Amino acid sequence: MKTILILNGPNLNLLGTREPDLYGHDTLKDVEALCTESAKLHGLGIEALQSNHEGDLIDAMHKAGQAFKAGTLLGVVINAGALTHTSIGLHDAIKGIQPCPVIEVHISNVYAREAFRHHSFIAPVAAGCIVGFGIRGYQLAIHALAEGQH
Ligand code: DQA
Repeated sequence: MKTILILNGPNLNLLGTREPDLYGHDTLKDVEALCTESAKLHGLGIEALQSNHEGDLIDAMHKAGQAFKAGTLLGVVINAGALTHTSIGLHDAIKGIQPCPVIEVHISNVYAREAFRHHSFIAPVAAGCIVGFGIRGYQLAIHALAEGQH
């Protein structure tokens, strides 16, 4: 069974209690359960990792690149949190594992928020971006990957 890697960056472990007006009441565990369910519909599995550390996410991206090459991984869904707006390292990692498709997800509509959230270092190297649809964004990304819409 092929898998999709679900990566979550800094502070997303606080989902459910962190700014619920913006991010909702669902926890990271709920998000991962939703992803498992969505992937299952396509006969796919998921692997999930959350880290507050940039290097862990970069290492996970490199591993994903190897799994993609080996034919065991379909692609990556990443919500890089605040690293979206700062990390050239993640940009380079995503570029470095191409053509493995990476889909950028944000729970909130970052473009309706502070100006510093309007720039993404991930978007230029992402297969696609899904913002502002709440945790449903993860599901949409999984469907897009599974259906080859990238
Ligand atoms: C976020 C948006 C980012 O700007 C923020 O730093 C996050 C969450 C989102 O899912 O809406 O941590 O990625």
